[in-house]
Amino acid sequence: MRAILVIHGPNLQLLGARQPHIYGAADLPAINRQLQAAAKRHGVRLEILQSNHEGEIVGRIGRAKGTYEAILINPAAYTHTSVAIRDAIEAADVPAIEVHLSNIYARESFRQHSLIAPVCRGQVSGFGAASYLLGLEAAVGLAPRAADSPSPARVRSRRKAR
Ligand code: DQA
Repeated sequence: MRAILVIHGPNLQLLGARQPHIYGAADLPAINRQLQAAAKRHGVRLEILQSNHEGEIVGRIGRAKGTYEAILINPAAYTHTSVAIRDAIEAADVPAIEVHLSNIYARESFRQHSLIAPVCRGQVSGFGAASYLLGLEAAVGLAPRAADSPSPARVRSRRKAR
């Protein structure tokens, strides 16, 4: 089964209680439950990490190749500061999608620049918890299926069609 690595960066363990007028009322377990339900519908497996430590995030991305087909990441404050996470994504050779609950371009100027975006395939910003779900849709689309070698069911239906 295709696997996607979901990374929540620093302070996102506080969601629900942290500035709900900006980040919404849903807490992290609720967002993760929504992601897991969507992943189930898509037939992909998620591994989810929340970390307040840049080195832990860098290490996890560094081990992603060969294990995950895509990475969905909210780098949180590291979006604006972390050359190390950017370099890790660039080196990983695994397609990554950046997500933000808030619209970072409508906020303070220091939040309007992402060091991470240029090494991601795309970014979803400003839709609250739905940013993660939209990002997951994109990640599923990017995660290559083992379809280059078609499943027996698909081969059978192709034969029937002939
Ligand atoms: C955030 C935006 C960042 O600027 C901020 O530091 C966060 C959350 C978001 O999801 O909107 O922690 O990534």
